[in-house]
Amino acid sequence: MTAAVDAGVHIEPLSGWTGALISGVNLSAPLAGNEIEAIRRALLQWKVVFFRGQTLDHAQQIAFGEQFGEVTPGHPYEGDTAPAGFPEIHTVSPAAYDQRYGAGYRKKQGANGPGWHADVTPLINPPSHSILRAEVVPPFGGDTQFSNVAAAYQGLSAPLRALIDGLRAEHRFGANFAAERSSEKIGEHVRTNPLASIHPVVRVHPESGERVLYVNPSFTRQIVDLSPRESRHLLDLLFEELARPEYTVRFKWEPGSVAFWDNRAVLHLAPRDVEHLGHDRVLHRITLAGDVPVGVDGRESESISGARFGAA
Ligand code: SIN
Repeated sequence: MTAAVDAGVHIEPLSGWTGALISGVNLSAPLAGNEIEAIRRALLQWKVVFFRGQTLDHAQQIAFGEQFGEVTPGHPYEGDTAPAGFPEIHTVSPAAYDQRYGAGYRKKQGANGPGWHADVTPLINPPSHSILRAEVVPPFGGDTQFSNVAAAYQGLSAPLRALIDGLRAEHRFGANFAAERSSEKIGEHVRTNPLASIHPVVRVHPESGERVLYVNPSFTRQIVDLSPRESRHLLDLLFEELARPEYTVRFKWEPGSVAFWDNRAVLHLAPRDVEHLGHDRVLHRITLAGDVPVGVDGRESESISGARFGAA
């Protein structure tokens, strides 16, 4: 596929469905209105966009995000490892996860298979977008993968789409390894401050109007109104579909790389291939406040537990 230029912004698609590399913009300075609109259009089409060679500090990353929406706190759980003075920053690194959730958390994350997810879907209004910036990257490995869940939905047969269009599912923080039974910090978090919502299995994207598959193996616990066995089988099928290689792109990080994705249209998969090598990997994420999902029938999601997630 060839690159395009939109309002002076270069957009180079990286796969047939998912991801585009954007060049010709400096994210550390305020963007022109037409640059913001070009990035928004690229996000709507490609679901995740990448930038290379950016020199952002925490404040500049937050200022970049504010041009696209309301920047939230780094994560809904208290006691976070946000850098001093920047509650909006969620640092992604093995050390930060161990401090935040307990040393066993990372091992258990894979208990339910690959941890494809959109950020914090147990919230009633999960973040619309995430912006992740690389500070320290391993010499090899540590790539992040993304999968286009609008394409995954369209790839299903019409009768299956008709079935799931009417279903809803519970999303719960820690669902993939029954974290509420954990003796580590993660157990304490989910027992004292559980986060759970019922979302449509098929969400209508608020900007594009596309239908997207809105379940993920990290947070979706069960489809409501189905028997546990029916729910398990159907979720397994959907989890397999949403990770089909043709819907994915794999991004290799360099220091100064930035990924900007739409959590309402793409899932991502954090790498598990570098920890055994002992390489450092430190990235910083911010998220933009999202709206309450709406299903094909026009019904909004319902909160089971947890407050709306807004500006820091
Ligand atoms: C995340 O899940 O937001 C982090 C992704 C990554 O570590 O690549």
